[in-house]
Amino acid sequence: MLEVIRNRRSIRKYNNKKVEEEKVKEILKAAMQAPSSKNSSPWEFIIVDDKNLIENLSKTHHRAKHINGSQVCIVVLGNKERFIKAGKWIQDLGACTQNLLLEAVNQGLASCWVGVFPKNKRVEYVRSILNLPNKFVPYALIPLGYSDEKVEFIDKFDESKIHRNLYKGV
Ligand SMILES: Cc1cc2nc3c(=O)[nH]c(=O)nc-3n(C[C@H](O)[C@H](O)[C@H](O)COP(=O)(O)O)c2cc1C
Repeated sequence: MLEVIRNRRSIRKYNNKKVEEEKVKEILKAAMQAPSSKNSSPWEFIIVDDKNLIENLSKTHHRAKHINGSQVCIVVLGNKERFIKAGKWIQDLGACTQNLLLEAVNQGLASCWVGVFPKNKRVEYVRSILNLPNKFVPYALIPLGYSDEKVEFIDKFDESKIHRNLYKGV
C-alpha cells in the first residue's frame, strides 16, 4: 500500500504553524490531476486563509467546527458549466478530493474532509459566505494545517467484503 494511503487519517486539531503557499499549490496540482468523466475536470477551488471567513466556514454545520483551528481551508467546488450528466460530476469531485487529501499527507499536512454537497442548506450557506455565483456548487471543505493530534493507522481491510465471480450471499 502507498505510504500516503496508509498514513491518511481525518485530523481535526491543528497547531499555529502556517501552511506554506507552495504546499497548497502542490496539493491543488494533485487535485486537478484526478480522472474525470470525458476529462470534463468540473472542479474549481477557493483557498480561504482569511481568519473571519475560516470562522464562518466552521459554522457550516456541527461537524465543521474544527475548520476554525486550521490555517487554510480549501473549498472544493463543482462548476455546473462543466457538468456532463447528472451524477458524473459527483464522482469526478470525489476522485479530485481524495487526490487532494493524499497530497496533503505527502506534504506533511493534516486535513479532514468536511462534507457540504448534497445538503442544500450547507450548499447555500457556503455560497453566501463566499459570495459564489449559482454556477458553483460547494462540494467539500478541506481544512489544512500541521497536526496537533496523535492518530494511528487503523487496518480497515475486511475480507468479507470481497466477492469473486457470482455473488453467493443473500
Ligand atoms: C463524503 C465525506 C464527508 C465527510 N464529512 C465530514 C464532516 O462533515 N466532518 C468531519 O469531521 N468528518 C467528515 N468526514 C470524515 C469521516 O468522518 C472520516 O473519513 C471517517 O470517520 C473515517 O476516518 P479516517 O478518515 O480517519 O479514516 C467525511 C468524509 C467523507 C468521505
